[in-house]
Formats: sequence, C-alpha cells, structure tokens
Amino acid sequence: MTIAELNQKHAIPGAAEIVAAGGNLPAVRISGPAHALIYLHGAHVAQWHPAGAKEVLWMSGQSLFADGKPIRGGVPICYPWFGPLGGVAGAATHGFVRNSAWELEAIRKVSAGVEVVLKLASDGASRGVWPHDFVLRHRITAGNELSMALELANTGHAPFKAEEALHTYFTVGDIRQTRVQGLAGTHYIDKVDGKKEKTQAGDIDFTGETDRVYFDTPAPAVIEDPVLRRRITISKEGSRDTVVWNPWIAKAKAMADFGDDEWTGMVCVETCNVAGNAVEVAAGSTVRMTARIAVQNI
Ligand code: BG6
Repeated sequence: MTIAELNQKHAIPGAAEIVAAGGNLPAVRISGPAHALIYLHGAHVAQWHPAGAKEVLWMSGQSLFADGKPIRGGVPICYPWFGPLGGVAGAATHGFVRNSAWELEAIRKVSAGVEVVLKLASDGASRGVWPHDFVLRHRITAGNELSMALELANTGHAPFKAEEALHTYFTVGDIRQTRVQGLAGTHYIDKVDGKKEKTQAGDIDFTGETDRVYFDTPAPAVIEDPVLRRRITISKEGSRDTVVWNPWIAKAKAMADFGDDEWTGMVCVETCNVAGNAVEVAAGSTVRMTARIAVQNI
C-alpha cells in the first residue's frame, strides 16, 4: 500500500498519520498527549515521549533504514532467535522479523493513548530458515506510558520453542553515571567475561563494555539517570529475562551503523525470553510478552 492509501485507511486526524520517515520507509507518527514514531519495517518503535518530556528512546544517527536491514536504536523485535543462530550460515542475527515489513492492521484511540497494531505471518521465505507457522502481532500503545505487547500465535500443528526480545534502546545523559536497579540478587551470564555465570550485587553501574543476560527477572527494571534527572521504569509481563547492553568504545567503533561516540548516551534494557527461558507455544495457542515504560523526573 502507498502512504496515501495507508492514511486513507488508518489515519486519525490530530492523533495519528502515516509519513515517509527514514529511508522513505512508512511510519506511523502519533501526536497529541504523547509523541511516537513507529516504522512498519520491523514493527519498530523509534521514538516515544510524553508531550513536554525529553525523548525516552535512543536512535543512532548512523542507523540504516532499508529493506532487509535492522534499524539501530528504538525497539527492534528479536524473534525467533536471539543473537546469532548456531549452525545456520548467513542467518540474520536476532532473527528475521526486525528486517521485514509488517502489515499495519489497525490504529485506534484507546483510554491510555493511541494503539497501533502491526502483524507479520510466516511465509515461504521464513519457513526456509525456521520451519514453523506463526502469526506475530505487536500492539503498541503510546500515551503517558509506552506499552508494547508482542503476541505470538502458533498457527501450525506442532508445538515450537522460540526466543523473543523487545530490544529497547534508552537515551541516557551519560552511561558512566547511569545505574540500573531492580536486578540485584539475580543470576546472569556475562557475555564479555567468557559467558561466566554471576550474581548481580546491588545496582548495575557501567565501567566498560556490558553485555549480560539476566535470568528470571520478573520485577521492574529502573534506569536512574542523574544527568537527565529522570527515572525510567520498565515493567513487564510474560517475560522471564532481561538483557542489559552497552557496547562501550571499541565495539561502538566496530559497528558501521553506530556512531563512534554514541555509546555514552544510550543503554539497552531488553524485555525478553531467551536461552532456557525460550517460550514454548502449543499448536493453536498464543503467548504474550509485554513491556510497559514510564518516565518520571527526579
Ligand atoms: C544485544 C546483544 O542484545 O544486542 C549483544 O546481547 C549485541 O551481544 C547487541 O551485540 C546488538 O546486536 P545487533 O545485532 O543489533 O548489532
């Protein structure tokens, strides 16, 4: 559908319109009590902030916006695997759905703001790399809070297991002064220290490259940002794990779609189900993973 056709079908005057955004990719722009920008490519939330607040999500100035490529920043959806896929040469890191165009199914006003629903179903190409039938729906509600609910339906005849992540990038004033709370006492795998298993002592602070998978973390995670003087709270349902990532200096330099100095201004706190906590979905059933993001001045 063209942007004009999408607007004819879905726009809500004064609240939501479809625009040509980065790389001329179509995106839903929400305005009013909250601002948000949601690409159909990857069902990717690139921006969200309540009116009058500073932007909460982080986007790289070097991001690509192209078919078949992930967007760097915002909220990429990782599915049906997280990280590289062992044993399959050339398989896209973090799965293929962040690189695919999703269908815009609905935009509606709801009491919490504006809801956007995007849909992606398995097809011949997806079955070539991952032999299961599924329908994903991503329900995004942008208002005073940002709520993102990823629904996964198994439309095949056998159960399957899948990893999934809302790989959320947040803007921070300075990562070196940022703390992440809410994960104390949980176990994690430290991907920058030989995948050793460790236990988190107190808050997370950042003094170097950080790439950790925290397991069994139902409590909200809180980003405490003394520079921007705000607190971002990430509450979740249907998610057992949390990934925390900052590439620091060398890895930022090594990534073509990430500015060399941008690592100081971002942190990823990802709502996910990965590794041993991959979701098992029975034939004909649906599972849902939700992240709810709120921001507060401190
Ligand atoms: C994080 C992973 O979630 O995503 C990191 O834990 C990875 O290992 C990072 O480097 C970025 O991945 P990508 O594929 O978007 O460059």
